[in-house]
Amino acid sequence: MTDPLHTDLLRLAREAAHRAGELLRDGRPADLAVADTKSSPVDVVTEMDIAAEKLITGLISERRPDDGMLGEEGASTEGSTGIRWVIDPLDGTVNYLYNLPTWAVSIAAEQDGETVVGVVAAPMRGETYHAVRGGGAWATGARDGERRLVCRPTAPLDQALVSTGFNYVADVRVHQAEVARRLIPLVRDIRRGGSAAIDLCDVAAGRLDGYYERGLNPWDLAAGDLIAREAGALTGGRPAERPGGELTIAATPAVFEPLQRLLEEFGAWHD
Ligand code: IPD
Ligand code: CA
Ligand code: CA
Ligand code: CA
Repeated sequence: MTDPLHTDLLRLAREAAHRAGELLRDGRPADLAVADTKSSPVDVVTEMDIAAEKLITGLISERRPDDGMLGEEGASTEGSTGIRWVIDPLDGTVNYLYNLPTWAVSIAAEQDGETVVGVVAAPMRGETYHAVRGGGAWATGARDGERRLVCRPTAPLDQALVSTGFNYVADVRVHQAEVARRLIPLVRDIRRGGSAAIDLCDVAAGRLDGYYERGLNPWDLAAGDLIAREAGALTGGRPAERPGGELTIAATPAVFEPLQRLLEEFGAWHD
């Protein structure tokens, strides 16, 4: 039976993700511009990233004022309840800036450090993905209603469609491109979707066989990782050589181990 607290957290996460998704979809200024940059000149922030985080943190703190929060755009509160919200208000900012449809709102709730709820809303797909720990992974959408997510039974690795992502820092990207160059002849094909949260949900939904990326932040993957695991995917990775440099891998059970082995051989976790 699902813990009633987790059901309440899921309801709040879904409401916040939907409201932020609507704001982003309907409120995108036609002349949207870069408001700021972070780790490099291509690591951009728009006014809409900030507005979406404000909406989400405002709603959560109104309903559950004593919870902790960690948000990409600066939300950082300790809390006293053992619950912490991990928020990426707009995952896929570069896509959003260019009006490409692959972007999402990602909200996870952790209880005593472990993710118990994950919601990823992808408004331009008309789909939202969610999971509660132990309760399976689900997609809801106007077109297909609610459906359970189960990852694909794909094998072997050379039949696998694998997605990846590139960090915003130039020399890290050069290394990531080299790893992708070595991997591409050994798999069906490679994708670069531009939203880590959607990549993880696509592994859950059987739209990808695997996904890997180095250097993700907690807000990129907290919700999507739970959704992928609850859909039967394996997730894991490799600890960092430097802070923030972890390699994340999510894949169907048949693809995970051979993909991990190759990525290790190619030194995908190195600087
Ligand atoms: C980025 C996206 C992208 C991934 C980057 C992330 P953001 O998040 O998830 O797919 O490759 O590593 O930083 O900045 O658009 O929220
Ligand atoms: Ca960002
Ligand atoms: Ca992100
Ligand atoms: Ca973001």
